[in-house]
Amino acid sequence: MRSEDTKLIRLEDYRPSDWLIDTVDLDISLYPVKTRVRALLGLRPNPAGQPDAPLVLDGDELSLSALLLDGLPVETNAYSVTPQGLTLHAPPARRFTLTIDTEIDPSANTKLMGLYRSSGVYCTQCEADGFRRISYFLDRPDIMSVYTVRLEAAQAEAPVLLSNGNLVAAGQVPGGERHFAVWHDPHPKPAYLFALVGGALDVVRQDYVTADGRSVELAVYVEPGKADRAGWAMDCLVRCMRWDERVFGRNYDLDMFNVVAVSDFNMGAMENKGLNIFNDKYVLADPQTASDGDYASIEAIIAHEYFHNWTGNRITCRDWFQLCLKEGLTVFRDQEFSSDERSRPVKRIADVRTLRTTQFSEDAGPLAHPVRPRAYKEINNFYTPTVYEKGAEIIRMLKLLVGDDAFRAGMDLYFLRCDGMAATIEDFLACFAETSGRELAAFARWYEQSGTPTIVASGHYDAAARSYTLDLAQTTAPTPGQPDKVPVVLPIVLGLVGAGGDLPLQTTSPAYAGAGMIVLDQACLSVTFTDVAEPPIPSLLRGFSAPVRLELDLGDAELLRLFSADSDPFNRWQAWQTVASRALVSAGRDPAKHDTLAMSAAAMADVLGVFLRDQAPADPAFAAQVLRLPSLGDIAREIGRDVDPDAIFAAHRGLSAELGRRLGPQLLALRDALDTQTRYSPDAASAGRRALRNEGLGLIAIAAPQEGARLAEAQFSTADNLTDRLAALAAMTLVPGEAREALIARFAQSCAAEPLVMDKWLMAQALIPERATLDRVRTLMQHPAFSLGNPNRVRALIGGFAANMTQFNRPDGEGYGFIADMVIALDRTNPQIASRLLGSFKSWRMLEPGRKALAEARLAMVAQTPNLSRDVADIAERTLA
Ligand code: TRP
Ligand code: ZN
Repeated sequence: MRSEDTKLIRLEDYRPSDWLIDTVDLDISLYPVKTRVRALLGLRPNPAGQPDAPLVLDGDELSLSALLLDGLPVETNAYSVTPQGLTLHAPPARRFTLTIDTEIDPSANTKLMGLYRSSGVYCTQCEADGFRRISYFLDRPDIMSVYTVRLEAAQAEAPVLLSNGNLVAAGQVPGGERHFAVWHDPHPKPAYLFALVGGALDVVRQDYVTADGRSVELAVYVEPGKADRAGWAMDCLVRCMRWDERVFGRNYDLDMFNVVAVSDFNMGAMENKGLNIFNDKYVLADPQTASDGDYASIEAIIAHEYFHNWTGNRITCRDWFQLCLKEGLTVFRDQEFSSDERSRPVKRIADVRTLRTTQFSEDAGPLAHPVRPRAYKEINNFYTPTVYEKGAEIIRMLKLLVGDDAFRAGMDLYFLRCDGMAATIEDFLACFAETSGRELAAFARWYEQSGTPTIVASGHYDAAARSYTLDLAQTTAPTPGQPDKVPVVLPIVLGLVGAGGDLPLQTTSPAYAGAGMIVLDQACLSVTFTDVAEPPIPSLLRGFSAPVRLELDLGDAELLRLFSADSDPFNRWQAWQTVASRALVSAGRDPAKHDTLAMSAAAMADVLGVFLRDQAPADPAFAAQVLRLPSLGDIAREIGRDVDPDAIFAAHRGLSAELGRRLGPQLLALRDALDTQTRYSPDAASAGRRALRNEGLGLIAIAAPQEGARLAEAQFSTADNLTDRLAALAAMTLVPGEAREALIARFAQSCAAEPLVMDKWLMAQALIPERATLDRVRTLMQHPAFSLGNPNRVRALIGGFAANMTQFNRPDGEGYGFIADMVIALDRTNPQIASRLLGSFKSWRMLEPGRKALAEARLAMVAQTPNLSRDVADIAERTLA
């Protein structure tokens, strides 16, 4: 392990840089293994820094070939240089320029940070600290500079040359083989937003005029031959630009906006100013190669990166502790965009599923951390569901607490006041305190405190007084580094549901904020509603108004009433999930309770049958969400300790089989009724119909394997789109036998040339819940479609296996061993991908003793491996702590 000797970086140690860089002129001559970079930095002392301080520039695996100060060579004793940094011992106490020549090898860059080549295309990734792999620099987000970039490359190798901002010049280099382009970005920006692209790419273009009258050339660049798959991304881009004008008053601010898809990328996409670079998985779409889920992700991520132009780029972060300032807010914005474009309740349900599966599990384990961490060893390990998803929940709560008008006014003020700044969470919250006239100091605890709060609620109806009293209490369990918790401020949107629907809410409690919302801001609270004509059923946390666990002692009958009668669609879905979750938790905890599961299933099937008959046809997307049971991970988290994944899986299978058996004929009829036979369209309504049909197919395949297999084969053969073919494959993977292997082979034949589709093929197999899957995955690693060097392939096959709850957690520990070996192997080439994969162990402490010991041993083995990256060492150390 090496991270004991790596430094802990603390929020409280922040101080302004001693030097500022006003301008950066880059001259980059692209060659596959020997790219030359000349950086001309316009420096000056920072009035807010220490006078006469040395200039300490960051570097990472760099090699310096020349250094000039104001154009003259620097004496060798005036500076020191290593691959990790360049220090000028006594720089002049005035403005000066520094010319730094470095040489880098983009072809050898397997970390995919800095400048690298992806399928022959030069591209960059500089967030969080990749710019220092291109040139020595003050690589911190509060150093904002105006960039001018000259790129030069072989015409044949890289006919397209892109960087941030606007194109200002282009031409041939004398000699004829090389050409150049000059880009200028007038908006000062931190180095992490720098980008360049060079390669042979096809393009789709569109003109756009902003609401404030600026003509913008939009372009989406893709690998040659794939331009016909760029249309959806362009359509999404235009829609999200209009939306940001309408909803947040934000206009685009350059003459060009470029999106580039590359095939080797560590994450989803990157918001470089004017030049967003994407994982091609989140750009390319046509009905044969992208699923409904892919279309929706592309829409969300195109919007996310575009929205960063204001929340992230125009207003950036003072330091990386403020990461949630841009990420939480931008996730909130992209979620709102998708809600407006699609079904708001269905989008909310999907987002809450993700939140619970990814963030609640993180917050419940050893990697729990505040939305704004206080310290880190490796910032790349903090691009987490907590920073992104919980960060977005905080914005959502803020909006509820201050109200829509003060929220919009607060955003306007933020854009006005902080434009051009490297800001903090405090700067952000101050805007809303001002527009709402509220004190937000207590609310700000959401940024500091980790762990998911639990709300315990109980209600009491007093028939004589016609009153209903709701008692609420909040607690948060201890998390790493935070043994003692304080109450947080959380909005509880609620209703009291009577026989005829929502009862009017009347109370004199100061905690009642009006509009059906209680603000819980202390450890406990009691609210009495008056003039309540009948005993109500409380419907709490409508729309999931706060990211908490709710313990409310409702009986199944009451939950089923909410499921059928609540006016809040989210809570209708939630009521059903709670019913299902209870049955699964009790059978998953104690396999002896398996027969009570059958009883619950019978009752549940009756209710579902009525729901499917009366309501599913009108809102298939919602119905599909209802049919989908809580995930294995969600049930494990509810059980919380001594978890036996096989028992949970058996309960899940048992309930699905029972529901499928009892509802089979109805599901079949529904499949036929929803089969409209029209040409594929990715819109939300059509996707919802497919989702419901395919949920039904899954249940049938579990209940009646032969029939399921027959239906899956038929659907695979006749489908005109990937979504239905994929659902057929997934259903078939539930049915062991030759038919399954035949369909797996057919799928591969149909898409051997499409890596993104082969990823789905790899993943479907990695997820098969059978002991033979590990061997299958090992065999698939030899398949030509797989490569350890490509993050998408690794996430599909290896990441897919790590997400396979019963097989990753095999009782013999072989699943842990395999993933640990992969982490160590990947760490040698791509530490970010390796450390993400190691995150698969984050819930190990809640396992039963046998598995727990096996997982711990493998983690310890990883931790003791020599020469680990900082990324992997940090995760290993924190996971074991
Ligand atoms: N800022 C990017 C986003 O949220 C994500 C990002 C951070 C990233 N670091 C990265 C992407 C490294 C790729 C590689 O949209
Ligand atoms: Zn982002």
